[in-house]
Amino acid sequence: MRAEQPILLLDTGVGGLSILGPVREKLPNAPIVYALDQAGYPYGQKSEAELTARVPALLGRLAEHVDARLAVIACNTASVIALEPVRAALAIPIVGTVPAIKPAAEISRSRVIGVLGTQSTVRQPYVDNLSREFASDCTIIRYGTHDLVALAERKMRGEPTDSEDYAVILDGLFSQPDGDRIDTIVLACTHFPLVEEELLAAAERPLTFVHGGDGIARRVAHLTEGQPWPDSPSPGRAIFISDGSDPEALRQGLSSYGLEILETL
Ligand code: DGL
Repeated sequence: MRAEQPILLLDTGVGGLSILGPVREKLPNAPIVYALDQAGYPYGQKSEAELTARVPALLGRLAEHVDARLAVIACNTASVIALEPVRAALAIPIVGTVPAIKPAAEISRSRVIGVLGTQSTVRQPYVDNLSREFASDCTIIRYGTHDLVALAERKMRGEPTDSEDYAVILDGLFSQPDGDRIDTIVLACTHFPLVEEELLAAAERPLTFVHGGDGIARRVAHLTEGQPWPDSPSPGRAIFISDGSDPEALRQGLSSYGLEILETL
């Protein structure tokens, strides 16, 4: 293991920054490569077969290209669908991002929990299994939305978003049976913590939002314990798997997470 070997994170866009933030806080000197699979965006509207084929091949290629020591699938959709095939295909440790139902069940008082994710994520048996294992005494209400992914992408490009759009999305949970009793919402898509403030502002009552960023940072620190790191922080690299759009629109947003070097693959 060389000190320069990076941690690789993958998402379709800016969502994985909600994981990168806590990882950088925990491991400030870790070299970072953040990959944006814009050509595959949005994963949340892709089929299981498409993601099972795409994600292991892409992550394998990227891990080899940057000589990663560990990879984080910084996307709930790709993790709940393709974590096992990715682990089977790559020789390095893989950390997935799965809906934070367990921590939500630990704090919910009303025992009614909302799960907000992409359409692909909320329909996965993985979510049933987490609910059964960690929240068997809770009512779990799910809502799948691509709109909130798009709002987070717009925000990170510095574009304005409309507060009414956030209220409509929350209503997708609240308008379901027992939805008025939800006190805790799992942000089961890595894009959503980036617009947590906007969601809170749009909610008409107190709510607690839960997501997996800190848990993943702890997991990455644990898996790399004892490994060498550079003596000081270095600028992070963002690699665009391009859909043809201009990476410059994201320069400022990425730079606020320490990603100063932009490359296109
Ligand atoms: N950030 C991804 C997730 O956590 C979804 C983004 C997309 O749909 O491409 O599920």
